[in-house]
Amino acid sequence: MTILRANDETIASAAALLRQGRLVAFPTETVYGLGADATNGRAVAAIIEAKGRPRFNPLIVHVTGRAAAAPHAVFTDVAARLAEAFWPGGLTLVLQRRPESDIADLVTAGLDTLAVRAPDHAVAHALLAAAGVPVAAPSANRAGHVSPTTAAHVADDLGDAVDCILDAGPTPLGIESTVLDATVDPPVLLRPGAVMGAEIEAVVGAPLAVGGGAKTPTSPGQLASHYAPRAALRLEAREVASGEALLAFGPDVPPGARITENLSPTGDLREAAANLFGALRRLDASGAPTIAVMPIPEEGLGEAINDRLRRAAAPRDM
Ligand code: TXA
Ligand code: MG
Repeated sequence: MTILRANDETIASAAALLRQGRLVAFPTETVYGLGADATNGRAVAAIIEAKGRPRFNPLIVHVTGRAAAAPHAVFTDVAARLAEAFWPGGLTLVLQRRPESDIADLVTAGLDTLAVRAPDHAVAHALLAAAGVPVAAPSANRAGHVSPTTAAHVADDLGDAVDCILDAGPTPLGIESTVLDATVDPPVLLRPGAVMGAEIEAVVGAPLAVGGGAKTPTSPGQLASHYAPRAALRLEAREVASGEALLAFGPDVPPGARITENLSPTGDLREAAANLFGALRRLDASGAPTIAVMPIPEEGLGEAINDRLRRAAAPRDM
């Protein structure tokens, strides 16, 4: 890991690292983010690995502005007004994800919504412009720790798990962005943050709803139902029964499945994480009543993968 004082040259090399699928921590006006190319599933898996997250949470995609977000997310009327009023700035908009968007499934943790924001920080803006890709970035801390407001916090927390830290001093606001579900009108406040609810209400022209909207989960528990495939999941499967679909992992794949998706033929957990949501969706679409899931090691990213699979396997309506 290297800490680079942010300037034109170091921003250009950090942008090149992002395009190569590496991790770059960078300042925003709120807190430091741990960034990766949002269209590169393996790079996004590396973020989750670096944070040591035991489960997949959806990540915010950072863009230079509305034009860069438009190919990936649908701006409702109210979202367009909010972006006009608060971007660049500390407001994250949760929007309907466009099906044709090439944002990796892992970014949204399989949801059909996408959180986007345009940071109001010269270094973040220059990095995003130079990278030329949307950048997925959670706060650059280990899971369960507080969000970092200096490059030193990031270095202490993440060490060599991050390839490069762009240092531009302390972040001006030091509090995370406000997260708003703008798929509905009036929008729903999901996380209070840098932009006050009252400021948002002034633009919306109505009180905000708080908590779970019609479509947006507010807690991991609620999130679970969004990922559930129609098919039943049978975990720790070592062979396949007739009619079953198979979610495989590693080189030794039992025969006989009506359709097989291998998360990683070489047994690589980063590759497996990147493939997880797409593979589940394709197996579910095959119409098989049951998806047999091979054992996945409970280590590193395997923990988050198994968390997701166990929830998908749990009885519904819980
Ligand atoms: O200020 C910030 O927002 C910082 C900087 C780096 O931009 N980022 C940040 O990211 O705080 P993170 O991952 O620590 O928090 C993202 C929040 C989480 O609460 C997550 O659940 C929510 O955004 N979120 C992301 N995508 C969502 C979605 N599709 N639906 C609902 N909530 C979403
Ligand atoms: Mg965070």
